[in-house]
Amino acid sequence: MKDLSMDRDGLDPIELASRDEIEALQLDRLKWSLRHAYDNVPMYRDRFDARGVHPDDLKTLADLALFPFTVKNDLRDHYPFGLFAVPRERIVRLHASSGTTGKPTVVGYTQRDIDNWADLMARSLRAGGVRAGDVVHVAYGYGLFTGGLGAHYGAERLGATVVPVSGGMTERQVTLIEDFRASAIMVTPSYMLNILEEYHRRGLDPKDSPLQTGLFGAEPWTDAMRAEIEAAFDMHAVDLYGLSEILGPGVANECVETKDGLHLWEDHFYPEIIDPETGEVLPDGAVGELVFTTLTKEGLPMIRYRTRDLTRLMPGTARSMRRMARITGRSDDMIILRGVNLFPSQIEELVVATGGLTNHYQIELYRAGHMDAMRVHVECRPDSADELSRAAAARMLHKRIKDVIGVSTEIEVRGPGEVARSQGKAQRLLDNRPRG
Ligand code: DLL
Repeated sequence: MKDLSMDRDGLDPIELASRDEIEALQLDRLKWSLRHAYDNVPMYRDRFDARGVHPDDLKTLADLALFPFTVKNDLRDHYPFGLFAVPRERIVRLHASSGTTGKPTVVGYTQRDIDNWADLMARSLRAGGVRAGDVVHVAYGYGLFTGGLGAHYGAERLGATVVPVSGGMTERQVTLIEDFRASAIMVTPSYMLNILEEYHRRGLDPKDSPLQTGLFGAEPWTDAMRAEIEAAFDMHAVDLYGLSEILGPGVANECVETKDGLHLWEDHFYPEIIDPETGEVLPDGAVGELVFTTLTKEGLPMIRYRTRDLTRLMPGTARSMRRMARITGRSDDMIILRGVNLFPSQIEELVVATGGLTNHYQIELYRAGHMDAMRVHVECRPDSADELSRAAAARMLHKRIKDVIGVSTEIEVRGPGEVARSQGKAQRLLDNRPRG
């Protein structure tokens, strides 16, 4: 793997600033952002007033805990533009969640927001080892989803040659990576596995591909999957995090030189970790729900937005800004099976570690009598597709899940190509339990 560590001269000075400098900037910007929300968004004004707090009450960063939370339903309740803090005419771009049920959540950006977003995505790309002049293959979906266009503007801002492929048509993805000599790819980790499969299908050795690094995100993944992608392609794989309500991709990114969690771009977002049950702010290091307050967003300021993503904050390493650990899951993805709490990513780690199996898997919940039950659908490797190998892999995975997580599950080892593939975010959980 090529050493892609960044020459520190090329970084934004704030990435290496002292904690005091970063916190002073955060406090200034936080005062502005609370005031901006209070003055321009009726929901914030009403909520602050009801709680008896005013933007002037914020004297220190810790005072943010006085202010009320915002949740996804607030966006739905004010559909489509009710939380915008500027006249609609100043919004130059809209994106929306793909929400499968109910109204989508709509987000809007001013020109300055778009500029900041491009800067932060360019910063994320640099952290991932991408430089001006590189060919960047963008396979995140373009459209209302923030992945494609967010990645695109950042790569252009960095001075890369951008290939806006979007998701799907996997054969063409491989052709373009090879013919245009892409050195970087931006794609969901699950879709990267489909691209890997296509390399094998064509009899190409992925190690010979021009790819040197990739920024993978938009869905939970694991270090086990990182190891698999890095080994298969002889490339770096770093984690990219974001959410549309706060920005889109480019809220946090892992540095290629350390790969030790994602540096949060704290000059634009103030992170907190809270206890999801009580709402109490937890100290750095404790695992809880990630909450963001935007510090510079004009179009859609978000005050104490509850992401539902679970992680912990850690001190900076390659940059001064704090890191967050890989997201282990969303509080709404947590499966409670006969009293045991688990996340799909825990199953993924065990699937990847079991010989004879691929990384394509789905978890099905169903009702067996009066009890909830879980079935893991996973696909065998083409060279382990005979009945004996499949049965052995199923036994092994069953035992590992029982030993490590403590639940008994049914394992269904399917043949090559038989587990549904994703073109973007993978659907890992199928809930077939009766409703109500
Ligand atoms: O997924 C933005 C994005 C695009 C991020 C491309 C990275 C790359 P949403 O569709 O609003 O935005 O979904 C946001 O996806 O709250 C997490 O639950 C999950 N998510 C995003 N990145 C990661 C990651 C985009 N690196 C939701 N690891 C978030 C785990 C992630 N989960």
